Amino acid sequence: MNERSLLADEARYCSFGDTVHYVEPPKIFERCSGSYLFDARGVPYLDLQMWYSAVNFGYANPRLSDAMRRQLDKLPQVASQYLHPTKVELAKAIGEDAQRKWGAKGRVHFNVGGSQSIEDSLKLVRNARGGKSLMFAFEGGYHGRTLGASAITSSYRYRRRFGHFGDRAHFVPFPYHFRGGAGMTKEQYGEHCVRQFERLFESEYQGVWDPRANEAEYAAFYVEPVQGTGGYVVPPPNYFARLKEVLDRHGILLVVDEIQMGFFRTGRLWSIEHFGVTPDIVVFGKALTNGLNPLAGLWAREALIGPTVFPPGSTHSTFASNPLGTAVGLETMKMLRETDYASLVEAKGAHFLQGLKELQRRHPEIGDVDGLGLALRAEICEADGFTPNKKLVDRMVDIGLSGDLGRGGEKFGLVLDIGGYYKNVVTFAPSLHITASEIDLGLVLFDEVLSRAKRDLA
Ligand SMILES: Cc1ncc(COP(=O)(O)O)c(C=O)c1O
Repeated sequence: MNERSLLADEARYCSFGDTVHYVEPPKIFERCSGSYLFDARGVPYLDLQMWYSAVNFGYANPRLSDAMRRQLDKLPQVASQYLHPTKVELAKAIGEDAQRKWGAKGRVHFNVGGSQSIEDSLKLVRNARGGKSLMFAFEGGYHGRTLGASAITSSYRYRRRFGHFGDRAHFVPFPYHFRGGAGMTKEQYGEHCVRQFERLFESEYQGVWDPRANEAEYAAFYVEPVQGTGGYVVPPPNYFARLKEVLDRHGILLVVDEIQMGFFRTGRLWSIEHFGVTPDIVVFGKALTNGLNPLAGLWAREALIGPTVFPPGSTHSTFASNPLGTAVGLETMKMLRETDYASLVEAKGAHFLQGLKELQRRHPEIGDVDGLGLALRAEICEADGFTPNKKLVDRMVDIGLSGDLGRGGEKFGLVLDIGGYYKNVVTFAPSLHITASEIDLGLVLFDEVLSRAKRDLA
């Protein structure tokens, strides 16, 4: 491969509407395995973000790749009006799990990406609430970039050029304790945030509630229980249960976006399970197929998705429930049943978090570290430990991707991803199969990139 001509062809022929190159020139990888990406020189880059948590089970996971190969040899393609077994079996596995956990009957609908499944959920919600098109969503929330999904995603940047095709959400502050809860414990802050939201329903004059009709103007609240793009913000443990009480009292549906935090990223199949509330709709994607196929989907309570309310033709995509995707998704669900991922992720997450806390003691620039399972965060700040320091974190990403880390003979790279409201949060989403020694290596490399970035910018 000639790197220069590849980049020249990209500049000439590829749309840059989707491409975000965080480094210049963009990094090119040739191979992947387990927790590592390899460049053309064969240098291993320890990946601590795994394609925004799409590859929870390691690159080129043999079991999941084999499931895809088997399906490729058997029934790789078939039109959606015909049935194929893995579609039904996968829907059943997800539906049975939901019924066991929440005692609720429901159904699964597949589509070809997270955003498209969010669109489907918007149809379900609007249909169930008499066409109401107004939604609540969180500041810092991310639900995708299709037109409907970007209307409930907090960033105006994603909408600015395109006008409005639907109503944008009413964005409610997420209980982001590190940046909002001064003087309060996490729990007190959780309660405080719910009360702020609850205030909207005090009388008709707060603009969302008609007490005479007993009806809210809003159909649903879209939540990421742990914010993804928003910077892996873990809410106070009491927040969602209290929020759900308010929603139930006012007939507002709870739609849980598990696209990034699902499939045991946080130590549970769905991150909402940590918070003891029952969702009306769960939207999932990414790690369902370990990133091998863009299959995504949703589970919804029967009342919202049964055939009488959501009949044939309500939504469709040619590639929805494609057999390659459903075969891998089914294998993922089988794998999750056979191994105690809850304990495994909890133990690895605790190890990783403890290491980050040790680094925080030595680097005042690490303002906050936190995590749930293997969704971890390190907020990079000025030396005051609070003022966001995007320059420092950007430098860290560059150094990680230079591929010349490590003190001994062997050279390494480090793949980091940045999120957060101020783009200063390292969001760690390592493989759930990462080993203890790889976690230790990750901490050593993280220490090195931070120390080098600090020196460079001194
Ligand atoms: C929480 C969340 N919702 C929705 C999406 C959109 O999914 P997709 O990129 O598959 O359209 C993402 C993708 O990053 C996400 O993290």
